[in-house]
Amino acid sequence: QQLQAAELERTFIAIKPDGVQRGLIAEIISRFEKKGFKLVAIKIMIPSKDFAQKHYHDLKERPFFNGLCDFLSSGPVVAMVWEGEGVIKYGRKLIGATDPQKSEPGTIRGDLAVGVGRNIIHGSDGSETAKDEIALWFTPRELVSYTSNAEKWIY
Ligand code: TYD
Repeated sequence: QQLQAAELERTFIAIKPDGVQRGLIAEIISRFEKKGFKLVAIKIMIPSKDFAQKHYHDLKERPFFNGLCDFLSSGPVVAMVWEGEGVIKYGRKLIGATDPQKSEPGTIRGDLAVGVGRNIIHGSDGSETAKDEIALWFTPRELVSYTSNAEKWIY
């Protein structure tokens, strides 16, 4: 189980408090699911401000850092790990550009958000950050390895 899991690419995806409050959880999950990526961990939690600062530590020098961390810790966040070939890069493609005004239609931010400070979703931007973010938000035991075999469940 551990060996198989180690070979598969994984990324950390979070639905931010605005996405949760606006009722977009199912919409966002369904875009990753329909693409063919596999959900291997999910939970809902309200991150503390300290936790939000850890998550966004790379941005601590930016002027929007404090407001960003206040926002992330302002309500429930749906934290997930998605798995699949190319999931880090393609996940970013599904999400769209950081500023929803510049995200293409068809992307999650392009279709569902209007402002950079309320862009509804987070996705890891590379393999190192994916590893770090998964380790910050989840314990190894919360990650489930399984083979997707849909036919078994359809008569
Ligand atoms: P960043 O990691 O640059 O973008 P992304 O989420 O697309 O990886 O920034 C993290 C978050 O910070 C971003 O989702 C929204 C917020 N942010 C602002 O509020 N103002 C800004 O000017 C930028 C660049 C980001």
